[in-house]
Amino acid sequence: MSSKVIVTIFGASGDLAQRKLYPSLFRLYKSGNLSEHFAVIGTARRPWSKEYFESVVVDSISDLADSPEQAQEFASHFYYQSHDVQDTEHYIELCKLQNKLNEEYQAENNKLFFLSMAPQFFGTIAKHLKSEHIVDGKGFERLIVEKPFGTDLATASKLNEDLLATFDEEQIFRIDHYLGKEMIQNIFAIRFANLLFENIWNRDYIDNVQITFAEKLGVEERGGYYDQSGALRDMVQNHTLQLLSLLAMDKPKSFTKENIRAEKVKVFERLVQPSEDDLKRLFIRGQYKSGKVNGKKYISYRSEPNVNAESTTETFVSGAFFIDTDRFRDVPFFFRTGKRLTAKGTHVNIVFKQMNSIFGEPLKPNILTIYIQPTEGFSLSVNGKEVGELFNLAPISFDYRTDATASGASPDPYEKLIFDVLNNDSTNFSHWDEVKASWELIDKIEQLWSQNQVPLHEYAVGSMGPEAAFDLLAQFGARWQWQPDK
Ligand code: BG6
Repeated sequence: MSSKVIVTIFGASGDLAQRKLYPSLFRLYKSGNLSEHFAVIGTARRPWSKEYFESVVVDSISDLADSPEQAQEFASHFYYQSHDVQDTEHYIELCKLQNKLNEEYQAENNKLFFLSMAPQFFGTIAKHLKSEHIVDGKGFERLIVEKPFGTDLATASKLNEDLLATFDEEQIFRIDHYLGKEMIQNIFAIRFANLLFENIWNRDYIDNVQITFAEKLGVEERGGYYDQSGALRDMVQNHTLQLLSLLAMDKPKSFTKENIRAEKVKVFERLVQPSEDDLKRLFIRGQYKSGKVNGKKYISYRSEPNVNAESTTETFVSGAFFIDTDRFRDVPFFFRTGKRLTAKGTHVNIVFKQMNSIFGEPLKPNILTIYIQPTEGFSLSVNGKEVGELFNLAPISFDYRTDATASGASPDPYEKLIFDVLNNDSTNFSHWDEVKASWELIDKIEQLWSQNQVPLHEYAVGSMGPEAAFDLLAQFGARWQWQPDK
């Protein structure tokens, strides 16, 4: 790994930079993964001084540093440039600063750019980086792009073309922070390091797969963005489909980014494109109404700041995807995600088929649960015998669970993902072919919804979404396994 690098952050005054990027860079620094040979150029419109920028960085890492001196030493690597992304002059200045810091820190011309601002500027930034010779082909040059990657296939394709004018696909790292989560990466181990599971990971043994991304919070201060986006674009196009691809992919030839990507892309390309009837039957949208939970009042989505009072934007979506591969043909992959639900939690339930029962009562399915957050771990439910003289079946659960995030045992996704970029490892990033295929499918659902022919179900705050999301599974003789509302 080369830890000699000049990192340039576009959007350095933003919330993400302060909450995630600076602390993640600091952890990498503390663990020795970033050497002394690095510097960070923060850019944003605000006219900050280096001293002020350093104080922002110090504040953002105050609870991670061993001493104020260590925090200050780290922050001394940060430089600030007030930057208007549309102004060519500013890139000329940026280039000078880049070259100066490259000399000073002996960074061997390695450059990492992080785009963490309004996506409409990504194309302009990429263009200027090349035309003003900041990207000059010397050293490594990598680009990290934050979501959202477009708002539909057309805008995503345009954005991609703009980036490709300056960077190759191999240099572009599209962040999906869920791919940096410990338990999502653990899916590779569960599946491909245990013959036990790999042998039954197919349509002969799996009845259905259930993916839940539940959030207790509402849209908070992001109403302006969210009202244009909605849950389908915000959580399904990226996180849900990425997770699904890891669950559904075939075994890669080896654990390399090329082989993993090839298998993931196959899943995206084999996603069944639903007919119009299936689009109506298989995808449910909802919006939270005002209500009370434990005596506390919550406003409706439409009353949230910066949200249109007549908004039809969905804050909940549920549906069923199918993948046309020999492994998983006709197996429903159910998903649901929403704001203001009962509890925060990302869980996957793999529901296995059962055999004929010899016990005079139907057998409960075996279920493998993957707890992604906030608890991390697995559980496997099997049928056992109840203690006692009589022979009764009783569920037994093999559990391995930790609250690793709370204990700080698991690294933050951004720390892992930046580490991967420094290692030139794109395994845990979204490839363009994946993004493209996911937008093709999401666009179909969005188009149907925009015609308002499909109901927008209201749901109560603190619930697990509208009834329709439960009826969806009932169509398949299934039910949601995770029921925090019960
Ligand atoms: C983001 C979405 O990608 O993921 C947010 O834009 C959502 O709306 C967030 O709240 C959830 O991430 P996490 O890591 O808190 O589960």
